[in-house]
Amino acid sequence: MGMPTSLPSSARIVEVGPRDGLQNEPGDIIATDVKVELINRLTDAGLSYVESASFVSPKWVPQMGDAAAVMAGINRKPGVTYAALTPNMRGLEGAIESKADEVAVFTASSEAFTQKNINCSIKDSLERFVPVIETAQQHGIRVRGYVSTVLGCPYDGDIAPEQVAAVCRDMLDMGCYEISLGDTIGVGTPLKAKKMLEAVNKEIPMDKLAAHFHDTYGQALANLYAVVEEGLAVIDTSVAGLGGCPYAKGASGNVATEDVVYMLNGLGIETGIDLDKLVETSHWITGQLGRGNGSKVALALGRKDK
Ligand code: HMG
Ligand code: MG
Repeated sequence: MGMPTSLPSSARIVEVGPRDGLQNEPGDIIATDVKVELINRLTDAGLSYVESASFVSPKWVPQMGDAAAVMAGINRKPGVTYAALTPNMRGLEGAIESKADEVAVFTASSEAFTQKNINCSIKDSLERFVPVIETAQQHGIRVRGYVSTVLGCPYDGDIAPEQVAAVCRDMLDMGCYEISLGDTIGVGTPLKAKKMLEAVNKEIPMDKLAAHFHDTYGQALANLYAVVEEGLAVIDTSVAGLGGCPYAKGASGNVATEDVVYMLNGLGIETGIDLDKLVETSHWITGQLGRGNGSKVALALGRKDK
């Protein structure tokens, strides 16, 4: 009986809960203190990369309106990367002032989604990123690139893997050090995810790719296993599975960090994350947001404080 031999020995988890998770919270604006405490708790649990804020228009995404205050409030831990989303020069300026360690630019492989999300075409979005990337690099700030809707678009439907690959290639050529492949609405299934990755991997080495899978249809863990088997070793996750995308109707949160860590532990893939502390954080944030348990693993492992 053959076991897969291509599994990586370790994986890097990019925690996006404080940004991708909280940006989509309905209702009242979440207090800055809660966002700051969430980030501190996550780094205490061993997360070494936390996407902490988003310097976007507060008219478009009200929950991220206190990005500068959040960045100023964090208890910065050595060795941790605190990153921020920056759609344009104005966003980058805010991120630089706030001493973000890294920034991320974001576009999509579908025209319609790009239009709804950042109000321009894919081509225009890439042009907009040129000065953002150049200026970030002049400040010694690395730039990550997101490509959304890689496994389907809420407006355009199926997206050809070659189209995904072409946008990823452009982002890499422009200076992004890593491309995060976003299944924004979580419609992918494992074979589809594998085929998409194969097409992208023809253009881009595996060690420059990350998976950013939302869990709308409960497929994210299966899809992740499929791409990890191909050798992909950077995974974006959101504690408690918080979130969604405000410009992708019906999109639920990213795959829960604790679900992914549990799976990777079982596969013998190192993450450096303390699952118990992470689960405590999951219970804490869902409590703050007035919700039940955030994920299957958080529910199964229960609360330690009760
Ligand atoms: P626009 O309306 O085309 O641009 O928005 P604009 O330049 O005309 O600006 C409009 C207003 O926003 C102006 O204010 C600007 O000053 C202000 P007004 O004059 O009306 O008072 N503005 C800003 N304010 C603060 N920070 C800024 C900024 N820029 C302009 N950086 C823009 C274009 C890109 C700004 C807008 O469309 C926007 O902010 N979009 C944000 C969309 C967003 O954040 N989406 C969610 C994140 S992406 C995601 O979740 C997907 C991902 O997780 C991957 C995946 O799952 O696939 C990454
Ligand atoms: Mg997302």
